[in-house]
Amino acid sequence: MKYSGYAYIYTIGCQMNVYDSEKLASILNSYGFEKTDDMEKADIVVCNTCSIRHKAEEKAFSFLGRFSKIKKRKPQLITVMAGCVAQQEGEKAFVRVPHLDIVLGTQAFSRFGHHIDAVKSGKKRVVDTKDSQVIYESLPDTSDNSCFDENKTSRFVTIMQGCDNYCTYCVVPYVRGRERSRSPENIVEEISLLAGNGVREITLLGQNVNSYGQKEGQISFPQLLGKINEINKIHRIRFATSHPKDLSMDLIYAIRDLDKVCNHLHLPVQSGSNKILKKMNRGYTREKYINRISDLKKQCPGIALSTDIIVGFPSETDEDFNDTMNLLHEIQFDSIYAFAYSDRSSAPAAKFFEQIDEKQKRERLNNLLQLQEHYTKKKNKELIGKTLEILVEGKSVKKRDGFEQTSGKMEQMTGRSESNKIVHFPSEHVNMGDIIKIRIEDAYPHSLWGYPLGA
Ligand code: 5AD
Ligand code: SF4
Repeated sequence: MKYSGYAYIYTIGCQMNVYDSEKLASILNSYGFEKTDDMEKADIVVCNTCSIRHKAEEKAFSFLGRFSKIKKRKPQLITVMAGCVAQQEGEKAFVRVPHLDIVLGTQAFSRFGHHIDAVKSGKKRVVDTKDSQVIYESLPDTSDNSCFDENKTSRFVTIMQGCDNYCTYCVVPYVRGRERSRSPENIVEEISLLAGNGVREITLLGQNVNSYGQKEGQISFPQLLGKINEINKIHRIRFATSHPKDLSMDLIYAIRDLDKVCNHLHLPVQSGSNKILKKMNRGYTREKYINRISDLKKQCPGIALSTDIIVGFPSETDEDFNDTMNLLHEIQFDSIYAFAYSDRSSAPAAKFFEQIDEKQKRERLNNLLQLQEHYTKKKNKELIGKTLEILVEGKSVKKRDGFEQTSGKMEQMTGRSESNKIVHFPSEHVNMGDIIKIRIEDAYPHSLWGYPLGA
């Protein structure tokens, strides 16, 4: 059916959820709903949820909770809980959010329109947490940017769903299902359409891109990268996430040899302690991880590295935590994402003894972040005097101190280096999507400042 009205979409969580929300927006668009940033105006509200940590889950419930009053005033308003919390909670979602109309699990997107029709014709409390083999193939194309407020040069493309690794702290295998990959043809087609619509950088997404296509007997991930490398007008290819146990030499060679694949790798280590890695069921040791990084550095000199770390996993002692701190000294990551362990009832670690108290977790997290700040600054400072290739993303939101007084006709622009660092620079004639060379003059904790070459 075709309707008219406005849709408000609120996204919590990872890059995959950002991609999923684009798909939800396009479905709503095809049903006649226009996207709005004004919650008050909305005729349908979708909260795309994340259940990786308790805090993210709470954010979803509190966001949706506030619509109970609005719904009294506007009974025709449709409220939807989508994504990981929806999949996890199913019927139980109504206990905390009684006014919900649709609970749309992670594999139910292709049936979303059908559920909207059902609610419009009077059906109450629709729940869909059923499995689905194909998830994205049947959904509308989002390459023309029509669901966005602005054009973007950089977009995510999910190439696989689910995870078979069963790390003991993680809910993903339970809420996103078993691992399955999209076909290479389908992915290449989507990226070609994006390129035709002005996108210059794509980030391929999957829980473990290294095992892409293996189950289905399709081409390998490095081979997929080779195919995407040939797509005209795509300047840069990034990907996340790689699992250290599956990082192959072929992938390392692909990063080294394929000109569009960025010299940057996000490789979550989670802990520097072998005891904790074993309890997490990660399938590698600290020594194996370090060896992999040294292979990478040998083949891809100057590669930027980032990682994910969990502190306060059950039974983590001061000594285990020190192993993680030492790993940061040893590897010197460009950046890290660090989290306090959050107990998830559907993940096995919830049943582990020796849970760490919250205060201890906070302390460890702060110490870790402080140490990393030192290395992030150090890495950024090392770039002063170097020339980096930047993909221009647009005008900077926040201007450098004193910029307005000295800039004349110049605009302060922003972009990213191949190593994923944010770089600000003055210019009067660059466009979004251009690749330009910038000489770095200054380094801040989270960004760099420089001047275009020849300026
Ligand atoms: N508690 C804290 N952090 C977690 N992550 C996954 N599950 C949990 C959890 N239960 C982190 C991991 C993962 C990242 C996406 O989120 O570091 O790599
Ligand atoms: Fe979760 Fe581990 Fe799978 Fe990553 S690899 S999604 S941490 S189970």
